Amino acid sequence: MSSERKQNIVAIDGPAGAGKSTVAKLVAERLKYFYIDTGAMYRALTLKAIKEGIDFKDEKALVKISHSADIQLKRDKEGNLKVFLDGKEVTKSIRDREVNQHISLLSKIKGVRKNMVARQREMGRKGRVVLEGRDIGTVVFPRARYKFYLDANFSERVARRHREFISLGKKISLAEVKRDLLRRDRSDKLRKVAPLKKAPDAVYIDTTCLSIEEVVERILDCIRGDLRKR
Ligand code: DC
Repeated sequence: MSSERKQNIVAIDGPAGAGKSTVAKLVAERLKYFYIDTGAMYRALTLKAIKEGIDFKDEKALVKISHSADIQLKRDKEGNLKVFLDGKEVTKSIRDREVNQHISLLSKIKGVRKNMVARQREMGRKGRVVLEGRDIGTVVFPRARYKFYLDANFSERVARRHREFISLGKKISLAEVKRDLLRRDRSDKLRKVAPLKKAPDAVYIDTTCLSIEEVVERILDCIRGDLRKR
């Protein structure tokens, strides 16, 4: 049994709009674990590249900033995740359209991922963490004790993402959200390095017709059921 298996790590993977972030945050709160949004880390890096005017075809330059970027995930008093890039808060700006448009170009690069994965492993080293992303159960912590793969049908995911943008006060059409999601789904699933896929030992949850609370309860039931058996 590896040391990772002895650690309490909850891996939650799935495509954009499957409900991972909200669910992962609540699961972490209930278990009193630390929540790590790995997508926020790729987003912060993409924002840095945009700010520094880096050409997204320049893989060397992107790998270089993946070494130098100071990315911090913190929680405020209400338990909300705050993202800091090189000392400045970027929680909102990492959700900008420009970041969405460029993130696939950065997240497909092997050297960038190698760096991000090393950081994520370090953050989860002591266990008691919920990590959410695309490759947590397959690459970052393949021996995590608890693995879940959240999915939902495409139109439901589009509708959720659209509502999210609107609630953040961002004007965007449903068609544009649809285009963005299609592009990211394709890139996340088809990229050569760490593509999005369900780990064979992950529990699959279709969230299309489930409320957030129902998804959280299903996950906690699996974890509690396992703890009872120990
Ligand atoms: O979860 P999200 O939508 O905030 O993630 C944004 C992008 O970051 C996603 O389209 C792919 C990339 N990502 C990744 O490649 N690997 C992860 N572990 C998390 C996110």
